[in-house]
Amino acid sequence: MKMKKFAVAAAIAMMGMSLMACGGKKTAESAAESKAEGAASVKAVSAGKLIMATNAEFPPYEYHEGNEIKGIDVEICRAVAEKLGLELQIEDVAFDAIIPEVASGKADLAAAGMTVTEDRKQNMDFSDTYATSIQLILVQENSTIAGKEDLSGKKIGVQQGTTSDLFSTEDFGEDSVVRYSKSMEAVQALSQGKIDAVIVDSQTAKEFVNEVKGIKALDSSYSDEAYAIGVKKGNTELLNAVNAALAELKSEGKLDEIVTKYTKAE
Ligand code: ARG
Repeated sequence: MKMKKFAVAAAIAMMGMSLMACGGKKTAESAAESKAEGAASVKAVSAGKLIMATNAEFPPYEYHEGNEIKGIDVEICRAVAEKLGLELQIEDVAFDAIIPEVASGKADLAAAGMTVTEDRKQNMDFSDTYATSIQLILVQENSTIAGKEDLSGKKIGVQQGTTSDLFSTEDFGEDSVVRYSKSMEAVQALSQGKIDAVIVDSQTAKEFVNEVKGIKALDSSYSDEAYAIGVKKGNTELLNAVNAALAELKSEGKLDEIVTKYTKAE
């Protein structure tokens, strides 16, 4: 326990130092050098800031409220940033632009209720998982669709680039899947009878069912999801610092507190 605390403090201190020393930019050479000495080098995109790429169309994890972006991921990343002595900055982009933002070094973190998948691991490194979820199938209230097995040949709405998109394309084929830039657009198409079902992560699904009349969520789960924060491939220092901060937030009870705050009204 003591050791762990120390490791966390050291990781954070080293991150702060390398940020101060080089303004977040390091040459490959100096990074290799400090690695050899066993020191950390954090490639932060912008000095003093922790830039989080997200897609704020996924309540309660991230959503717009007035001019603000709020949600579980926002609060978790703000708390992580605080532990690292950095200020959180949010970049709201299309879901399928999040990984490119991080991979190309425009953002430090991907935090978007993003499920860890083998494919995504090719382009990004993932933190320890901080939440689990399932996906649900939404249908019109009077629909005859009762489960996954009734979906073949049907029109299924998904948010482009999400695991709903990937899994339903795999399960039911390209012709069945209708892609939208936001899950809410798929839900609206469903309520207007333009498509037969929507697949979306359960907490978001529940928010949509509360908001939109005439639709319901089926009881059975479509898939299992485990959310993690993504960092640029090979940025082990940031990854370790994020994992250490997440572990602290968990043991402090802060993670649960944040989740409860956004999910209590059900
Ligand atoms: N968990 C799903 C995935 O990883 C959906 C995430 C959607 N998140 C969002 N912020 N729109 O693909």
